[in-house]
Amino acid sequence: MNIAIIGTGNIGKGLARALARTAHTVTVSDQSGGAAAAADLGAAGAQVEAAEVAAAVSGADLVILATPFGAAESLAQAADFTGKTVIDVSNPLTADFSGLTVGHTSSAAEEIAKLLPGATLVKAFNTVFAQHYASGLSVGGRPIQTFVASDDETARNAVIALAGEIGMEGVDAGPLKNARYLEPLGFMNITFGYLLGRGTDIAPLWASK
Ligand SMILES: NC(=O)c1ccc[n+]([C@@H]2O[C@H](COP(=O)([O-])OP(=O)(O)OC[C@H]3O[C@@H](n4cnc5c(N)ncnc54)[C@H](OP(=O)(O)O)[C@@H]3O)[C@@H](O)[C@H]2O)c1
Repeated sequence: MNIAIIGTGNIGKGLARALARTAHTVTVSDQSGGAAAAADLGAAGAQVEAAEVAAAVSGADLVILATPFGAAESLAQAADFTGKTVIDVSNPLTADFSGLTVGHTSSAAEEIAKLLPGATLVKAFNTVFAQHYASGLSVGGRPIQTFVASDDETARNAVIALAGEIGMEGVDAGPLKNARYLEPLGFMNITFGYLLGRGTDIAPLWASK
């Protein structure tokens, strides 16, 4: 599969490193075209391609938006997402990090779905701190879980499988509107990590016997 990662910050580079270890082809892009990020990743042993946003999306089967929620509007103008499966990883934080800008009656994922009407949206990875991609994707000896929500069962299952390929446990979280609850979970994770002193070695886990 050709995977495009738009955004080469903490999460974009983390996912690129993890996905570069799989059999998939990874292309990274950002507002500078991704070449510098691809060179950094290559120097760290992760072989990825770089392309401008439109070309990266055009050549991809799966697109990961590793960008702030607010970037989706301009990305919708920059590339044609028709027919693409798109993963939204965002937590739509307010500028002062005190809460979420969307919630209860919608979610960042659903708002992005409206901006990209030809795409199949999947919510995933928003409850996983970027640091885990560098330090190993496990907590307490168990794979880190990512909660995967989409209205398209095939896309949901594909992302659950992809999570497994990078050593995480993908958990079926039902339809895309459940992103309304996954995004507050992401916010609570940030609250535990940064405001309540737990640090970023934590991750939410839906345990069963
Ligand atoms: N950090 C975490 O632990 C964490 C955990 C879970 C979820 N998330 C979510 O993951 C997303 C990314 O977070 P981050 O920490 O990786 O942020 P970050 O380090 O600030 O990186 C953001 C990236 O997005 C790119 N970008 C912004 N606007 C863009 C546009 N219009 N077109 C193309 N690229 C654009 C930036 O590229 P330029 O440098 O070229 O502007 C940058 O590479 C956010 O939605 C966040 O809520 C983060």
